[in-house]
Amino acid sequence: MKIVMLGAPGAGKGTQAKMIAARYEIPHISTGDIFRANIKEGTELGKKAKAFMDQGLLVPDELTLELIMDRFAKDDCANGYVLDGFPRTIAQAEALTASLRKNGDALDYAIDVDVPDEDIVKRMGGRRACLACGGTFHILFNPPKKEGVCDLCGGELSIRKDDEPETVQKRLNVYHAQTQPLIDYYTEEGILKSVDGTQEVGKVFEDIVEILNG
Ligand code: AP5
Ligand code: MG
Ligand code: ZN
Repeated sequence: MKIVMLGAPGAGKGTQAKMIAARYEIPHISTGDIFRANIKEGTELGKKAKAFMDQGLLVPDELTLELIMDRFAKDDCANGYVLDGFPRTIAQAEALTASLRKNGDALDYAIDVDVPDEDIVKRMGGRRACLACGGTFHILFNPPKKEGVCDLCGGELSIRKDDEPETVQKRLNVYHAQTQPLIDYYTEEGILKSVDGTQEVGKVFEDIVEILNG
């Protein structure tokens, strides 16, 4: 199964993608997580990406495509994957479609996690993220069992640098300008499904499972 998660920054793409990956035993591939891991390790890619990410801007398509195509080449992608944060521009979506088509392949679902901007801004302040495994929590809505510690891997939780209110607003603007058009793109491809992302985490997941088991 090949799934793309769509939605604004903070809509819950990462939270749901992790749950989908566990349930359907496919890898969760988050370009944001891969960039953050590279920044932490101080790689060349990380240095280049950081300048854009800290400002709430997209990393250039060229860099992102190189990274994701390398990731697709790994063995664990043979049975599919859930993509979180990629594609994010029409150019990225077209590159993905073309690379799949070369092997006579295609995506199965594009799932849009729909959350209005007002709710997003409220959510971001309470997010805590694990840099080690990409686990995401919320101090009120999805708290870790032990404060400051990742339930999934025991790693330390921290506040993401791009979660300051000003940067969040900028990311939302970038989303509306560059990423939202993908909703039309995947509607035309006939694979778009939308879920109400304002519901609680477990209910959003139930709605997604219903679509995937459809
Ligand atoms: P990325 O890491 O992808 O960030 P994003 O799209 O801005 O999304 P987030 O990770 O912030 O939110 P999410 O939807 O995953 O929500 P989450 O589950 O954490 O990208 C970061 C940056 O990297 C970009 O700005 C760009 O610079 C660069 N980048 C990445 N990919 C790129 C690409 N393809 N091209 C170019 N540049 C790229 O949930 C948010 C919070 O809400 C959490 O605290 C969570 O616990 C809570 N929550 C989740 N669900 C619910 C719910 N149902 N109810 C209440 N709270 C909830
Ligand atoms: Mg995320
Ligand atoms: Zn972790």
